[in-house]
Formats: sequence, structure tokens, C-alpha cells
Amino acid sequence: MGERWYTESVIYCLDVETFQDSNGDGIGDFQGLISRLDYLTRLGINCLWLHPIHPTPGRDDGYDATDFYNVDPRLGTLGDFAELLHEAANRGIKVIIDLVVNHTSDEHPWFQSAVASKDSPYRDWFVWADKEPADRFQGMVFPGEQAETWTYHRRARAWYYHRFYDFQPDLNFANPLVRAEIKKILAFWIQLGVAGFRMDAVPFIIELTEPGRSEAPMDFDYLTELRQHIQWRRGDAVLLAEANVEPEKLPEYFGDAGGSANRIHMLFDFMLNGRLVLALARQNPEPVIDWLKTTPKLPPGGQWATFLRNHDEIDLSRLTAEQREDVFEQFGPDEDMRLYDRGIRRRLGPMLGGDRSRLELAYSLQFTLRGTPVLRYGEEIGMGEDLTQAGRYAIRTPMQWSYATNGGFSDAEPIRPVISKGEWGFEQINVTAQRHDPASLLAWFERMIRTLRESPEVGNGTCACVDQPLPPGVLVHRADGPTGSMLFLHNLGTQDATVDLGALAKDTHLPNDVFADQEYEPVGDFTQLQLGGYGYRWIRLRRSNS
Ligand code: NOJ
Ligand code: CA
Repeated sequence: MGERWYTESVIYCLDVETFQDSNGDGIGDFQGLISRLDYLTRLGINCLWLHPIHPTPGRDDGYDATDFYNVDPRLGTLGDFAELLHEAANRGIKVIIDLVVNHTSDEHPWFQSAVASKDSPYRDWFVWADKEPADRFQGMVFPGEQAETWTYHRRARAWYYHRFYDFQPDLNFANPLVRAEIKKILAFWIQLGVAGFRMDAVPFIIELTEPGRSEAPMDFDYLTELRQHIQWRRGDAVLLAEANVEPEKLPEYFGDAGGSANRIHMLFDFMLNGRLVLALARQNPEPVIDWLKTTPKLPPGGQWATFLRNHDEIDLSRLTAEQREDVFEQFGPDEDMRLYDRGIRRRLGPMLGGDRSRLELAYSLQFTLRGTPVLRYGEEIGMGEDLTQAGRYAIRTPMQWSYATNGGFSDAEPIRPVISKGEWGFEQINVTAQRHDPASLLAWFERMIRTLRESPEVGNGTCACVDQPLPPGVLVHRADGPTGSMLFLHNLGTQDATVDLGALAKDTHLPNDVFADQEYEPVGDFTQLQLGGYGYRWIRLRRSNS
């Protein structure tokens, strides 16, 4: 492992409550997760991102917390959580947790106190207006499920601001007490041993909301403060932020005072996500190439986190209407597969029609593009979605472990139904079945992740598209870092292709295929590289010590 662990990691994200139940109450828990750490070790991931673990009424799947200093008792105790950290560390796995401090649950004692009286010490912890704000109906994140961003509270006799659902009142970051409290929360979890945070909704944390002013000023300095704070408490702790904003705004989130990233270490690459999906839909790599060429330059130490699927809908809002239509047509043809007029609430397996070759191609491409790959639980076995579940819950069904009752997730009635029967049911798709099959998708993911971890230049090197005339549908990129150089070929189309990369041959040393969708002829002089439909090849060009 090099200097900065997060540039050479594979992050796996899961929700404890849907991963593995250990005590037969139908709810996944920390002990259940501990019992599956060996599975994750074998898969080859080395960082876990846990969705919110705090006590919650569960109206937004935990993104509505009532106590930032505790864990949801349904998942276990703080003691169990500390055990999880210990057990994970023993296996070389770091744990980061979701930090959801843009808002609280409306049942949080702070908000309860704030609404009870104008004199409450917590009144000013939230964002209020005495009169109906002019921007009441602007800035909703969940159109269709959320009618306004300012809601009148009878008991408080005032309007409160909520960027998300009305049961998620925004904290007031203009209040120094709130700022200090958030630092304390971060420090608390660091003290327990977490390696960092996935920060929810960062643009909304730093917006200094005022009634009637829909474009609020942004306080980026607070991110610098938070960074200073955590880095002092734990030198190698990281911040991984969700900031789905216009590309030109991204660099400010990283910050570059002093020449290196001094705010957020890692940002999810939402732009890449939309473009990857578009490229897959059109079987044409252009959108990805365009983005790779125009991605803002990151300060040293800044890193992208790449993903194909996460726990939310695939957000296509940064595509043009025409591009979005192409994606909808291919991957979300039915109305109930779509969400918020901008996204798709499906897993990748069914989106790609269960086509194994295409699935491998998609994940091979994501994992080899610059940055740190994030993999969502269940994708490694090709799980499907359950469209009978409301909204984003379609893609939040329990992990499918085996042929046992409820897919081995729990003996009891599960918190959410396990997908059963048919092509995507646990009877067909589960870990046990794939464990017995060396040709399974799970076995493929294990090999792929292991190979990636032998290729650290992907995470810590530079990434460049190879500018050569290429057959249609083909993307060629390379990664160059202190350890050497890798070349990657991906064919997004169905036609077999022959790629001439003779110009690269002179600068190689003992080049060889290290991973591919099939056995190919050796690379030779690089003028006749074969690539099947949906094919991919990872070629090591050289090692730095050679
Ligand atoms: C973003 C999270 O990813 C999403 O699941 C959640 O609903 C909102 N933030 C509100 O916290
Ligand atoms: Ca349980």
C-alpha cells in the first residue's frame, strides 16, 4: 500500500440492516456483518462505507438521524460497532461511515426543543423564517415526493427550511455552536476508530440559507476547518463527499490552498456516472472520453471516487434531454423504473438485460478509470431490483447469500422482502451458488479486484485516453504511475475489433495481458490487438523497476 491508502482502495458500500441478520429479528446487524468480513476479505475490498448507522425513525432509510452519538439499537450496541472496527482492521479493512449532518430527523431532541419555544437553546440550530419565504417552492431535491423547501410549523409558529423531506429540518451552519457540534461528532467517531466519512449533501451543508434567497452564499472555509480538524485527530482519516454539482464548481470542494487538496480528499464522480451509463446505452465511448478530457484538474491528494450504482437512483440530470432519453429507452423503458423525472431506480444487472459480458465490460471500465472504485453490495453477484418497493427501496433489498430461507439473510420475516422467484430471485442468484462456480460473476469480481490491486497506477497515477484511430465502440486508456504503466482496451459495442496500437510498442517492457474477457493472442508488436464484442483487455506495459 502506497502513501495514501484511499488512492489504492476498493470501497464496498452496504447498509448494515440489509446485509446479514445474526439474531433472527429480520434486521441486519453489526454481528451479522462481522460474520461476513471474511467474504469481503476474499472479494478483495479494503474499505467499507456503511450507510447511516444512527438511531432513526427510518423515514429516509437512516438519512434522518435522532442521535449522532449512538448507533441504531436494531443494529447492535456501540460495543458491537467497536468490535466491527476491530475485526475489520484485523483484516486490513478500513471503515468509513455516512455523516449526515445537513439535517436531523424532525424527531431529533434538538429540533423537538427548537419547536417547543423561541427561547430554546436549540432554536437557532435550525433555519427559520417568520413569514412565508418567497422561495418556498424552490430547490426541492425529491420532486414528486416533496412539495416545498420551507414548511410552516404550527408549534414553532414559524417556517423552517428543509432541503430534503419535510421531516429533515436543515441545521443552521451560520450558528457557531452547530459548527462546533459537528466537529465534535466527527471527532467522536474518529476516536472510536473510523477511517473517515462519506459526507452527505455537502453543497447544502455549506450553504448559508436565508429566507427568500434561493441562491445562498456558500461557506467553503467550513470544509477547510473540518479537514484541519479531522486530520489533526487522525492523520490518515479521509472525507469522501457527495457533491453533485456543475463540473466547474468541483475544484473548490477539493480546495487547493498550499498546493494540495486542503478540503475534501475524495468526491464522487457523478459526471462520470451519467456519462458511463450513456456510453453503455449508446455503445459508444464518446461521452466518457469527453469527460475524461475535460475533467477539472485536481490538486495533489485529491481523488475521484467512481461508481456505477449506489443506493440512490442513477441521476441523469446532467445529461441533455436527448441523451437522457437514450438512456431511459435502453435502461429504464418502463415508467416505474424511473424516478424524479431524472433517474433510474434499477441495479446494473437487469439494466444490462442480465448480459454477463456487458456487465463485466461495464465494471472493468469503471474500475480501470482514474480514481477509487466504489462497489455497491450485491452487484458482485449481479443482484436485481424489486420494483414493487417504493422509490429507491427497489434497489435496497437484502443481500442474497444462499439457497436457505430468505436467501440466508435472516430466519425471520426480513425488514424488506428478499428478491425471490424468477431470474433475479435468491434461488438463482446467491453467493453460495457462485462460490461453487469458478466461472461465476462473483469469482470474476474477485479476480478483477485482485488484479486491480496489483495495478496501483490506476488509483494513484495519471489517466489518459490514447488518441489513435480506433474502431467504433472502442475506448483505449492508460494509467501511468510510480509503479509502472497499464493499458486498457474496452469495446462497448458488439462487433469484434482489431486495434492497431503499434505506436505504443516502443515504450514497453515485457508487456503482457494481465486480465481480459477471454484468451487473446499475445500482444506482439501491438499492431493487431484483438478485442471481442463487449471485450476488454488489461495490458501491463511495463513496471517501473524494469
Ligand atoms: C443523499 C443520500 O444519498 C440520499 O439517500 C438521502 O435521501 C439524501 N442525501 C438526504 O439525506
Ligand atoms: Ca438482527
